[in-house]
This record gives sequence, C-alpha cells and structure tokens, in this order.
Amino acid sequence: MNILVIHGPNLNMLGKRNPELYGNFTQDELYEELSNQFPNVDFTFYQSNVEGELIDVIHHSMNENYNALLINPGALTHTSIALRDAVEMLEIPKAEVHLSNILEREDFRKVDYIKDVVDGLFMGKKIDSYIEAVAFLLTKSVV
Ligand code: DQA
Repeated sequence: MNILVIHGPNLNMLGKRNPELYGNFTQDELYEELSNQFPNVDFTFYQSNVEGELIDVIHHSMNENYNALLINPGALTHTSIALRDAVEMLEIPKAEVHLSNILEREDFRKVDYIKDVVDGLFMGKKIDSYIEAVAFLLTKSVV
C-alpha cells in the first residue's frame, strides 16, 4: 500500500506556527507519527510552498503506482482552482486533511475548492485528522 502525502504552503513550518490551531509537532514529527501508526503503509511525503510544483507532483504521480492520495493543501484549499483540477484527474482514493477546523475559522477559509474532488474530508483534530484519513483510505483502496 503506497500513499502519496502532499503538503501545501507553510506546512513545513509546523512547530513554529500557531500551536493552538496546528499543534506543537514539526512536519517531520507528523510524518514519523503516521509511519509509526501505519507500519504496513509505504508513505511518500512531499511538501512545497509553490502551487505549480504541487501540481507537477500530482501529474507525475499518475505515472507511479500510488494506491491513494492524502493532501493538506494549506491555504491553496481556499484559492486554487488549478490544484483542484489536478486533484480531480487522479483516479485513486483521495482524502483532504486539515489540522484545524476550517469551518470554524475566518469566512475565507470556509471556501474549499478541493472538497468536491476528494472522497473524504478530515479536519479539526490535528494529527488525528491524518490518522483518520489514512484509516479511511485503507478501507477505500484496492492494492
Ligand atoms: C490548514 C488550514 C488552512 O486554512 C491554512 O491556510 C493552513 C493549514 C490546516 O491544516 O488546518 O495552512 O490547511
């Protein structure tokens, strides 16, 4: 089981960003926790602050044999139709994840361009949002 995990802008700064919203762990600690919780899953982790790079990675992933996609697009969730169009192209099970609850924050975060092109949306539980998303993808994926 191979899962591609994509992180958008500013998620490389976890640990230094508002811990109330995002937790005290670093991005590497988050990755480590996922790998520990799911020892049978082969995760590929990718983060970029550049929208086009994220889109390129999604395009390239179509030539790899990933079983599922987990994406936290960061603020691009609320702005990027281009990222949405790329995610839409993938025919594997897909989950969108947020550490915070974007529906209980500023109004501009309630706009979510990604949610309609994924199979599941997990938010508001910090690392547990990710754990729930991976568990969901495992039920959806045909290996
Ligand atoms: C986030 C929520 C976004 O609104 C924000 O821009 C982020 C992180 C989250 O995980 O809660 O960068 O995606």
